[in-house]
Amino acid sequence: MRAVDIIAKKRDGGELNAAEIDFFIQGYTQDKIPDYQAAAWCMAVLLQGMTTAETTQLTLAMAQSGRQLDLSDVAPLVADKHSTGGVGDKVTLALGPVVAAAGQPVGKMSGRGLGFSGGTLDKLEAIPGWRCDLTEAQFKQQLRQVGLVVAGQTQDIAPADKKLYALRDATATVPSLPLIAASVMSKKLAAGANVILLDVKVGSGAFMETLAEATELAEIMVAIGRRAGRTLTARITDMSQPLGRAVGNALETQEAIATLRGEGPPDFTALILEEAGHLLALCGRAADAAAGKQLAEQALASGAALAKFAAFVAAQGGDPAVVEDPTRLLPQAPVCHALRSPRSGFLAAANARIFGETAVMLGGGRARKEDVIDHSVGVVLHAKVGDAVHAGDPLCTIHARTQAEAAAATARLLTAYAWSETPVTPPALIKHTLPSPHL
Ligand code: URA
Repeated sequence: MRAVDIIAKKRDGGELNAAEIDFFIQGYTQDKIPDYQAAAWCMAVLLQGMTTAETTQLTLAMAQSGRQLDLSDVAPLVADKHSTGGVGDKVTLALGPVVAAAGQPVGKMSGRGLGFSGGTLDKLEAIPGWRCDLTEAQFKQQLRQVGLVVAGQTQDIAPADKKLYALRDATATVPSLPLIAASVMSKKLAAGANVILLDVKVGSGAFMETLAEATELAEIMVAIGRRAGRTLTARITDMSQPLGRAVGNALETQEAIATLRGEGPPDFTALILEEAGHLLALCGRAADAAAGKQLAEQALASGAALAKFAAFVAAQGGDPAVVEDPTRLLPQAPVCHALRSPRSGFLAAANARIFGETAVMLGGGRARKEDVIDHSVGVVLHAKVGDAVHAGDPLCTIHARTQAEAAAATARLLTAYAWSETPVTPPALIKHTLPSPHL
């Protein structure tokens, strides 16, 4: 078999069989297929799509590219939640500690920023010393001792996704339904959690811009997970404007910590409590999602979730004092510039994709695989869709490395906004929930 023939078959719209998919994924993981052929193959998949059978086989091949964790000796049930990627999406940083503090072990594998979307690992790495390259033994030990662990893909666990993820980010091949489904689900299957909540983002700041596309992605991921014997469901949630107020790695980590203190933005706090409640119910910790939400609220109000976050940070090498003094320990950008509203009215749009692209442009994301990112840069929104603003009010603050970069970001962000003379209803946070196995 030759890689070039498999690329050509997909380029011409053919359906790859299991042997071809396995050959390609194994070859790329073992460095027998070079980056340039893998990039061409990803582009062919993006343009031609895949059948359900191909996507399922791709997921299994990627999950089997390394070791698959069996966590049954650690806990009978391990929970996970995964987002398909958005802007300002720091859900894992707050939801993980809330669920773990409510008594449910959470073990997950996350990713880095992809395209205009932020990545959980990049956000957590803003904390000095925090690291995600855990061995299987370290993953299990932390799950046992702390009840919360977030790892990255390694040479041993989901290595195919580790390589393809970075490659796709730099080759404009992220927004492909089969590639996203296989990337997400291969990590979920390899990391061993048996109860999984998928948060499929929809809107300008998501890879799926329509409800129909997001639903298709959710359904295929749920089908793959259930076929592999996992309990899982999916929610489709809004990404038309950034989630919460902060966009950018350190800024989002700071906002997640504020949320764990009970001082988070209302939309973000509402989403994590809803999702934590749903996950706790799926794990059998509560009779239903409403009772699960009450458990989550208690974990937040008691300070147990904040303490869990500190213990989790310390266990992965980070400085737990970050929860007491985030602004001292997290990197701060030298330039802060307020973007003021050029007119009065009700805010009708704050296009999430433009915020995400601006954060990347400021240095918070990668243009090439090997780029080093600046954790300090980003944007903090002061007004969200539906808010009444007056001309001259600050709409957001840009955190930049230089005045010139702040000026370029200002010009770009002005194109993200729209105003209305009449009141605007903010978008609903949760657009659709797929049926859950037993709720
Ligand atoms: N999250 C992932 O893990 N992979 C993708 O491709 C997109 C979002």
